[in-house]
Amino acid sequence: MKNVVTILVTLVTVCLAACTEAPPAGPSGAELLTPFKSEMQQALKAGMAEGPVKAIDACRLRAPEIAKALSVDGVKMGRTSHKLRNAANDGPDWARAILDEYLASDAEPEPVTRSLGNGRAGHVEPIFVQPLCVVCHGEALAPDLAAAIAEAYPDDEATGFRPGDLRGVFWVEYPETQ
Ligand code: HEC
Repeated sequence: MKNVVTILVTLVTVCLAACTEAPPAGPSGAELLTPFKSEMQQALKAGMAEGPVKAIDACRLRAPEIAKALSVDGVKMGRTSHKLRNAANDGPDWARAILDEYLASDAEPEPVTRSLGNGRAGHVEPIFVQPLCVVCHGEALAPDLAAAIAEAYPDDEATGFRPGDLRGVFWVEYPETQ
């Protein structure tokens, strides 16, 4: 009888532990953005190896493809900016709001994760201009490149940046797991 009680107590304890354990957490916003950031960087580098005018196509075609391929299972991601080259990259309101907070503050922008309600979470990371970026987003573009960009993006606002400037944000929204 004592043995049976011991077994029962053990079973109940194991069950309670299993039942009260938090559900497994899904990937964080930062983890979800990692492949997006590295694939974008690779696409840009591969494009630049063929020259900046060719690399425009890498940005124009590959960026939405990469974002779409990684936007599965209720996950959506992209890039947006206060100075857009492509108006289609306007991004969700909650991500624009965080970008506006970055711009309004003197503090160094840091990644932000927020609950969006409806069981969804949002995560944003600042994008800073690197020396490579000013080839296409800087103050003085090579004439052939400027012409190609003007043709593809007549409403381009994404020039005049210097290395270190805030260029925009990566954003991702995903189901909250807890
Ligand atoms: C070869 C030229 C080129 C280079 C170099 C380049 N970009 Fe771009 N960038 C573009 C083009 C073209 C687009 C528009 C892509 C599209 O249509 O979605 C773009 C779009 C963006 C966007 C999306 C918001 C918007 O304005 O539409 C961000 C953010 C961005 N670039 C950041 C960067 C950063 C950061 C770097 C450096 C690591 C960089 N770019 C280097 C050409 C370039």
